[in-house]
Amino acid sequence: MADRTFLLGIDVSTTGAKALLIAATGEVVASASTPLTVSTPHPLWSEQAPADWWDGIVTSIRRVLAESGVETGAIAAIGLTGQMHGLVLLDENGEVLRPAILWNDQRTGAQCDEIRERVGRERLIRITGNDALTGFTAPKVLWVREHEPDVYARARHLLLPKDYIRFRLTGEYALDRAGGSGTLLFDLGRRDWSEEVVEALEIPREWLPPTHEGPQVTGRVSAEAAEATGLLAGTPVVGGGGDQAAGAVGVGAVVPGIISLVLGTSGVVFATTAGPLVEPEGRLHAFCHAVPGRWHFMGVMLSAAGSLRWYRDAVAGGADYRALDEEAAAVEPGSEGLLFLPYLTGERTPHPDPLARGAFVGLTVRHERAHLTRAVLEGVAFGLKDSFELIQGSGMGPVREVRVSGGGAQSPLWRQIIADVLGTELRTVATTEGAAYGAAILAAVGAGFYESVPAACERIVAVTGRTVPLRQNYELYKGFYEIYRELYPALAPAFRRLGEMEVG
Ligand code: XUL
Repeated sequence: MADRTFLLGIDVSTTGAKALLIAATGEVVASASTPLTVSTPHPLWSEQAPADWWDGIVTSIRRVLAESGVETGAIAAIGLTGQMHGLVLLDENGEVLRPAILWNDQRTGAQCDEIRERVGRERLIRITGNDALTGFTAPKVLWVREHEPDVYARARHLLLPKDYIRFRLTGEYALDRAGGSGTLLFDLGRRDWSEEVVEALEIPREWLPPTHEGPQVTGRVSAEAAEATGLLAGTPVVGGGGDQAAGAVGVGAVVPGIISLVLGTSGVVFATTAGPLVEPEGRLHAFCHAVPGRWHFMGVMLSAAGSLRWYRDAVAGGADYRALDEEAAAVEPGSEGLLFLPYLTGERTPHPDPLARGAFVGLTVRHERAHLTRAVLEGVAFGLKDSFELIQGSGMGPVREVRVSGGGAQSPLWRQIIADVLGTELRTVATTEGAAYGAAILAAVGAGFYESVPAACERIVAVTGRTVPLRQNYELYKGFYEIYRELYPALAPAFRRLGEMEVG
């Protein structure tokens, strides 16, 4: 048999079902992604059919196998990652009962209130690390109980998106702990289900599968899955992690002090912690890391590069990103007194408000398109600073390094603006494969190529570039940031009323 020196990372994201093949030394061998679509049957809803994830994953696995020519016997292990918080309900035969309700679904406002009432808000934050947010899994379960009692009555198993793929690959019901902690049903400190919260919400305990650490083997590819995918039956599948935790592994943010900043559609500031720290107000998410014995804080802004994409399409006539960058670079920091609020799809950190909206504030006739562009880049940087400051004030110890990744990080101007706003050097890393790369690294650890996740990252993840903040810009931005901070509280009542008028 061939040497087993390759690892497969699988990522069920919201937009694509991806398979990534790497060598145990970290080189990318082949990558394939099959697009996925989201359905919105009602305003605020966001759903996908689990069968589409599986079909997409099968297609992508078959493509990487064909393109790489790697023998399936040479794949040592498989790691899973994917969108977090989504609810998949299965019946006693493992059949899907209804479309999965996704992380960005906003229908559960009333159920979040009910959870706070049943558990007590403070107690909920103390146990799970988090306040109840509409996107999390537990409120979705309550929603189904209330609105679809027939579905609820037939449910026997609860899984997350990536774990549905695990089930199809191995036949095992199991969850990784990074993902599990995003359900709002976890005891953060114990890294397992919270009997107290599960009981208070009257969710059947037997629906909840066993949980595993990221590099731990959770099952093996079944004969049936082998036939569907072309993989070798018996190939081990490790726990893996939710997309944010796995993405952090992919950039080497696995030890306290290294912060990962992701400039994707959403913007994420991620900090590993040595213990189960909690932000007492629940303004930061606190989850288990995919690294055994580590936890993490996370601030999530919902529209980061998503703001720029909206701006390019809706305002700048679909202009080329590079051309927009060039224009914006010619404008002085501060965009001549123009500020942009990036809450285009509501917000999570630090304002958990689905009704928050975007805004340009300070427009004058002097402002041209270039000012608007720069204001968007700066507004997103201010939003990231909100999370960065919360993390710095969270008691997790000093920040030693900030690593930036995601599509937006390819812009040198945006990196400079963020470095200047945060007053911190930013580093870029070699990989652009995101969470799937982290999942493959977790598989490499599970297969025994490295003794720990940090040891693997030390060997595999290389820093490729630095952006140094300019002191003078940092000082200037401090003043603009102060004004930016005052805008959300001032505008929130107007956002709420606009939302009510739209619905009513
Ligand atoms: C994390 C989160 C998103 C989703 C979708 O809390 O909601 O990252 O996992 O990618």
